Amino acid sequence: MKVLVIGGGGREHALVWALRKSTQVTQVLCAPGNGGIAQLARCIPVDPGNLHEMVDIVAIEQPALTVVGPELPLSVGLVDELTKRGFRVFGPTQAAAQLETSKAFAKEFMQRHEIPTAAHALCTTLEEVHEELRRFTVPVVVKASGLAAGKGVVICNTHLEAEEAAAQMFSGTLLGTQETEVVLEEFLTGAELSFFALCDGTHAIEIASAQDHKRVGEGDTGPNTGGMGAYSTDGIATPAMRQWLLRNIAQKTVDGMKSEGEPFKGVLFCGIMMTPRGPMVLEFNTRFGDPETEAILLRLETDIVDLFNASIDGTANQLTIKMHPGASACVIAASGGYPGKYVSGKPIEGLSEKLAEDVVVFHSGTAIEDGQIVTAGGRVLAVSAAAPDLRAALDKAYAELTKLSFEGMQYRRDIGHRALRQEPV
Ligand code: AMP
Ligand code: GLY
Repeated sequence: MKVLVIGGGGREHALVWALRKSTQVTQVLCAPGNGGIAQLARCIPVDPGNLHEMVDIVAIEQPALTVVGPELPLSVGLVDELTKRGFRVFGPTQAAAQLETSKAFAKEFMQRHEIPTAAHALCTTLEEVHEELRRFTVPVVVKASGLAAGKGVVICNTHLEAEEAAAQMFSGTLLGTQETEVVLEEFLTGAELSFFALCDGTHAIEIASAQDHKRVGEGDTGPNTGGMGAYSTDGIATPAMRQWLLRNIAQKTVDGMKSEGEPFKGVLFCGIMMTPRGPMVLEFNTRFGDPETEAILLRLETDIVDLFNASIDGTANQLTIKMHPGASACVIAASGGYPGKYVSGKPIEGLSEKLAEDVVVFHSGTAIEDGQIVTAGGRVLAVSAAAPDLRAALDKAYAELTKLSFEGMQYRRDIGHRALRQEPV
């Protein structure tokens, strides 16, 4: 079977890698892919925001299955368009993806269905922001409603700061595009957990949990990034907690979307804060996380094609997803300056064919120039490893990382620090 993966980051490299392990798959294509993915799949250039370009590739290549990695193609309706044309595709429709693409939709949805989340107010004007802020103590969180690649959340210590952040979102000076809706949110505290569920429109089943490291600096300091590393272990949450999250968050979301006539299929990524009042949803994403996926897929024992088929066919309740026991970790090597300005095109040294067992170097942002792999993004490599325990997985990933270099390379040396200190999640 021929499979097409849409996207070109570390997550898609991991998806392509997992697909290549499937006995059901004979050929993997990736659009646009990157320098590392090109070693496993035929890459086809595409703009992942351009619906027609993506549909044309599917029409020409006729894959038996298309797997959508990032949120942008979901937001322009790729799943709807391919389904309409009779192609099998993994991911949510444009309407169902609103759980990620519109924080306003997600917050109101959670309120309608009594899914635990921070108290909020939805504002469309600065006057409303000013008015609603009276209900919030500080710190208060200001969020752009639309997709913002991790840059749409500002934690404000005064009401004045919050008004300024909202003003910058409305005017477009913060994100480059003018926001029409801004969400004010109660500030929550606690450990964060990424809980991944596979959904088929009716059922939600657990894939795994992971923890991301969003800040660029060690000790969780500095600006937010797309994610500087992640880990996944059996013990990241207790079995009882995982059951609770599945029932009270993921399944409730699937039930709610179905009852509203917009069934949710694909991966539901629940960004959870473990607050003193219990777990609460910080955000939903409607796709695999990056870099969580690079860690999680190293532990996946079940054939990944079975996950995609169960989601598309509505048979997830008949599937049990098996994960290898133990732990996995992923450390991101990023370009100097990221998440601010950085320079691409730097040759990467040390990439070798001979990796230790259960170590994979996924490429997040690379390209091939004159036969040489060079940097081509903020996040460049996702060095991933699996082992019987987290310490061993991290040691393996860091041992590989020290062999790799490019000008300006930066990475966090403390991925997994909370778990290693045995802080509860
Ligand atoms: P989001 O894009 O909504 O996941 O937000 C990005 C990050 O901002 C989260 O991972 C949290 O660390 C932080 N954050 C978001 N919402 C809140 C909140 N209500 N209280 C505290 N921190 C938050
Ligand atoms: N790791 C966070 C995300 O994929 O959005």
